[in-house]
Amino acid sequence: MSKIEAITVENLKKYFTPSKHGGKAKKGKINTKETIIKAVDNISFKVKKGEIFGFLGPNGAGKTTTIRMLTGVLKPSKGTTSIFGLDVWKNPIPVKQIIGNVPEEANVYLELSGLQNLTFIGELYEIPKTDRLERAKVLLKKFELYENRNMKSIKYSRGMKQRLLLCMALMSNPEILFLDEPTSGLDPKSAKEFLDQLQRLREQGKAILMTTHDIFRAKLIADRVGIMKQGRLVAVRKKQDFKHADLEEIYMHEMQAAETV
Ligand SMILES: Nc1ncnc2c1ncn2[C@@H]1O[C@H](COP(=O)(O)OP(=O)(O)OP(=O)(O)O)[C@@H](O)[C@H]1O
Ligand SMILES: [Mg+2]
Repeated sequence: MSKIEAITVENLKKYFTPSKHGGKAKKGKINTKETIIKAVDNISFKVKKGEIFGFLGPNGAGKTTTIRMLTGVLKPSKGTTSIFGLDVWKNPIPVKQIIGNVPEEANVYLELSGLQNLTFIGELYEIPKTDRLERAKVLLKKFELYENRNMKSIKYSRGMKQRLLLCMALMSNPEILFLDEPTSGLDPKSAKEFLDQLQRLREQGKAILMTTHDIFRAKLIADRVGIMKQGRLVAVRKKQDFKHADLEEIYMHEMQAAETV
């Protein structure tokens, strides 16, 4: 029997049919091909335990839409997303228990302190009180937020909020992490520390799917990169393919090549 991968995406499609009527197609109206947005257009890939998969691609390529289908937020138009063999759309509860997610436009609970944000998440996951407090403190120390743990997070800087979001995603000790542009807004030192923490999580066997526009950092951290354009996965490259090559050149080449497909 073939090994079950942490993340499996098979023939995944998401088509949007926008209209003037609240983003949904008007009842009875047949959408012409021109009105359909093929946000994700038949993509397939897998991510293993202990692997960091970097998701690259220009604005509007379909990266966030793919993550939304992997985290049970959006229903695929066609195809499937699975987590350890479980269909995400059909098994929302068990799937949510094994994934951590930092969405593109996530926010912390601003009226709560850093510590309260984490213990609140711990409560949602029904982690016993003493364990949740202990776990929250460990995470706050790891991400250098411990000193400010009792400050309302509305007073946190953007980078501090970003680190708190990752702590929130890690409260349930998830096997799989989805991060949508997690280093945007982080200063270089914080970004480096953030990525160092991701490497440690990889060493613990977590599977990580991370979108980024930062090719330099993707090259440093990813075991494989997938390049999306116009809803399609136009290339997947292993570390050995881009370790000694210019990943930016590979990216630009794929962008041009994709235009001719
Ligand atoms: N709810 C929606 N309704 C209609 N179109 C949508 C919706 N969500 C996304 N789209 C469209 O789908 C396409 C892919 O968007 P998506 O957010 O997945 O891109 P992205 O690769 O994450 O881009 P970015 O790098 O800017 O974050 C875009 O054309 C976008 O306008
Ligand atoms: Mg996005």
